[in-house]
Amino acid sequence: CGIVAYVGHREACPIIIKGLKRLEYRGYDSAGVALMNGSLSVFKKKGKVADLEAFIAGKDVHSNIGMGHTRWATHGEPNDANAHPHFSSSQKIAIIHNGIIENYAALKTLLLSKGHTFKSETDSEVFINLIEDIRDNSNCSLAEAVRLALHEVVGAYAIVVLSKDDPDQLVAARKGSPLVLGIGKGEYFLASDATPIIEYTNDVVYLKDHEMAVIKNGELDIRSKEDVKQTPYVQRLEMALESIEKGGYEHFMLKEIFEQPRSILDSMRGRMITEGNHLMMSGFREFENKFINAERILIVACGTSWHAGLVAEYLIEDFARIPVEVEYASEFRYRNPIIRESDIVIAISQSGETADTLAAIELAKSKGATIFGICNVVGSSIARTTDAGAYTHAGPEIGVASTKAFTAQVTVLTLIAMIMGAKRGTLETTKLHELMAELDNIPAKVERALKLDAQIQEISEKFKDATNFIYLGRGYNYPVALEGALKLKEISYIHAEGYPAAEMKHGPIALIDEQMPVVVIATKDSSYEKIVSNVQEVRARKGQVIAIVTEGDTTIPTMADHVIEIPETSEHLAPLLSVIPLQLLSYHIAVMRGCNVDQPRNLAKSVTVE
Ligand code: G6P
Repeated sequence: CGIVAYVGHREACPIIIKGLKRLEYRGYDSAGVALMNGSLSVFKKKGKVADLEAFIAGKDVHSNIGMGHTRWATHGEPNDANAHPHFSSSQKIAIIHNGIIENYAALKTLLLSKGHTFKSETDSEVFINLIEDIRDNSNCSLAEAVRLALHEVVGAYAIVVLSKDDPDQLVAARKGSPLVLGIGKGEYFLASDATPIIEYTNDVVYLKDHEMAVIKNGELDIRSKEDVKQTPYVQRLEMALESIEKGGYEHFMLKEIFEQPRSILDSMRGRMITEGNHLMMSGFREFENKFINAERILIVACGTSWHAGLVAEYLIEDFARIPVEVEYASEFRYRNPIIRESDIVIAISQSGETADTLAAIELAKSKGATIFGICNVVGSSIARTTDAGAYTHAGPEIGVASTKAFTAQVTVLTLIAMIMGAKRGTLETTKLHELMAELDNIPAKVERALKLDAQIQEISEKFKDATNFIYLGRGYNYPVALEGALKLKEISYIHAEGYPAAEMKHGPIALIDEQMPVVVIATKDSSYEKIVSNVQEVRARKGQVIAIVTEGDTTIPTMADHVIEIPETSEHLAPLLSVIPLQLLSYHIAVMRGCNVDQPRNLAKSVTVE
């Protein structure tokens, strides 16, 4: 979910609506605002922020203080009643909440017995009634009631509370879900990330877990849950407004796909200098010895970031000869894993807020492992909880389906594997220098791969009505096959499976008939001959082959129905190029099917619930 709040001299509602649109990637099944306009008014609607905007058009929304929410449903289906903000039973106070209150059922039973009433199925409505109950029974201030309520709830939250009786006050708190406070001239902003804020101010404070902020009469007061006053650490953000706008592209996803030559370059800037062959990564340096001497590396991540982790497994084992295990953060967390103090855990996350990944980090930390974070969002929770890390510097990624973040993650992981291999002496110097020179060429080669757009659009036209897809790859291209299938599923809702090409004969081959498009990533590498055989196996079952090959290949074009030629590169770097046509293929198919590519149904970019 995404939250925004404002208090100051401007009209609050337009700022909140615009901010919610910027945060819509975090969830978009319903949205709402609460404003202080004489009374405390709440407007909320099932659907997108645009539906809410239409709903409030013509209504009196004048106010200098307010808050808004865009929801990704956890408790209760997406409808008007379950949308935020939620009122307390007396309708005197209202809340917006991102996160999950785990003990909501017990609290609800208690509150029901005390006469509170509920209009929704949400845990958030329980939270606000708890605050009201405390305020009424202890006869304390709103801020104090919120503070006391924080001691009763178990789970994760970022909340903002407004009260009819305190018309110039915002109370906010966080634990486990992000909350950024923007400080302007005589005005304050609160949001789940900085994107709704940077248009107005670059000065922000990242609220920490167990902290609450009270803004009253233009004064900011940050306190711990134990009521100890905190000194805010004001950071200046460097984010540019253009980076969060579409810049002439029809969709954020397309803009982000086309940004990759630059974002890949940015992710290696200052870390790799080919002249004189320098490789460095400041976050890595601090734990260099631990990394180099690690007996084992664990990688935890979810979704696309997990696919980047799979590429890293191949790279690190190949270059540094250290065993690597790649885990879904959610599984790792709950399966009693063996974690040793000598282990290095690399956590990969675009948003830096994924709850499953955060929980896996906490577990590994409690066992004494060293945690290295690879995040895109500066100042995010994961970036702040890890011992050290490297930012991917891909710039804000807004399309829900991850594209440029993936290639930036793979680039950073490639650099790490190269540094480790060099330091351990397991990667020959000549090989290292060749790899560096080739990595340096990658942005220009990605640029060339992007020129395939028109051809991929034509191919997309032929397959837009398919109901299933299979993606096959071997070696370094196996994770790319998984990522290609995930992209298609996410945004076009076509069922797709990614498989290691050789594994196909052990099951998925049964699915192949003349209706089945099979995307085969068959670039020139050490398993090329093998994948040629896999293409033959598909052909023999009349599957329709879309092959991604290296420029100049003469063998596969004789067997495939459609051939997409990408520039030649080292097999270790192949994912950075071979994923590009797959991103474009899923994008065009989704557009042709009329899908909302930037905000696919049921998904959220930043999943802050476990
Ligand atoms: C969500 C997104 C995916 C993303 C995954 C991990 O499910 O929809 O696109 O890959 O979370 O997110 P992270 O921010 O941790 O990389």
